[in-house]
Amino acid sequence: MASATVSEVENTTVPIYVMGKKYEVPDTLTIMKAMEYSGYQYIRGCGCRGGVCGACATVYRKAGDYKIYTGLACQTVVEPEMYLTQLPFYPASRADYDFEEIEATPDSIFKLYPELFRCVACNACSKVCPMDVEVLDYVSALKRGDIEAAAEISFDCIQCGLCASRCMGEMAQYHIAQLARRLYGGKLAPKAEHLQKMCDDIDGGAFDDDLANLKTLAEDELKKIYSEREMEPAMSGEGWKPESSAGLV
Ligand code: SF4
Ligand code: SF4
Ligand code: FES
Repeated sequence: MASATVSEVENTTVPIYVMGKKYEVPDTLTIMKAMEYSGYQYIRGCGCRGGVCGACATVYRKAGDYKIYTGLACQTVVEPEMYLTQLPFYPASRADYDFEEIEATPDSIFKLYPELFRCVACNACSKVCPMDVEVLDYVSALKRGDIEAAAEISFDCIQCGLCASRCMGEMAQYHIAQLARRLYGGKLAPKAEHLQKMCDDIDGGAFDDDLANLKTLAEDELKKIYSEREMEPAMSGEGWKPESSAGLV
C-alpha cells in the first residue's frame, strides 16, 4: 500500500464542534491550536501552553459515547466528532488566612474548610483530573489530618479546577490541598541542613572574594564564564558530582 505524502498528511482534517458549532481542523492539532485555527482568539483560558498553568481546562464528549471527557486544551489532540468547550474559570471559594499566623494542624484546615467533610467518596474528582492526581486520596488524607500525605499526593495539581466542577460535596479540593502543601512545606517539613549551611557560609563571607572578582570582569568575560560553566546533566541521577569543586565551600 502506498504511504501518504507529506501534503496528504498535512491536509487531513477532522470535524470538531466548539460550543456547538462545527469546524474542520487538521487532525494533528491540540484543542487549543484547533480553536485558534477555527478563528478563536485567546484572551483568557490560555497561559503556559505547556501543561503546567491549569488555565485551559476543557470538557468534551465524543459522538455515540455517553462519557464526559476532560483534558487540557494545550495538551489534548483533537479527535473526530468531539464536542467540546473550554472552562475559562470555574468558581471556587478560597479561604482567607494569614499564613504566618496559622498553625500547621489539621484543625486549622478543618476550620477554614469545613466542607471537606461533605465528601461522599464518589471519586468523580480523580476521574476528571487531567494530571492523574488521586484527588479522593488527598481529600481522604486531609480528613484524616495527614497534612504530609495530602501535600505529597496533590503535588502535581495545576489548579485547573476540573475536580471542583464535578464535586458532589461542592468543595474546591485544590484550594484545600494547596493549603496543605503550604503548611507542610512552610512549617512541617524538616529544614534542609545543607541549605542552612550554605546560607551561613554566604553570610560568613565565603564567596565575597569570588563575587568581588566577578564584578571586575567585562560583560563578554562574564558571558564566557557563564556559558562554559559545568552543569548537571538533565538525566544525571542521584550520584552526580561536579568535576571541579572550585567555588564550593
Ligand atoms: S486536582 Fe483538581 S485542580 Fe488539581 S489538576 Fe487535578 S482536577 Fe485540576
Ligand atoms: S468529587 Fe467531591 S465528593 Fe466526590 S470524592 Fe471527590 S471530593 Fe469527594
Ligand atoms: S495553557 Fe497552561 S496548562 Fe494549558
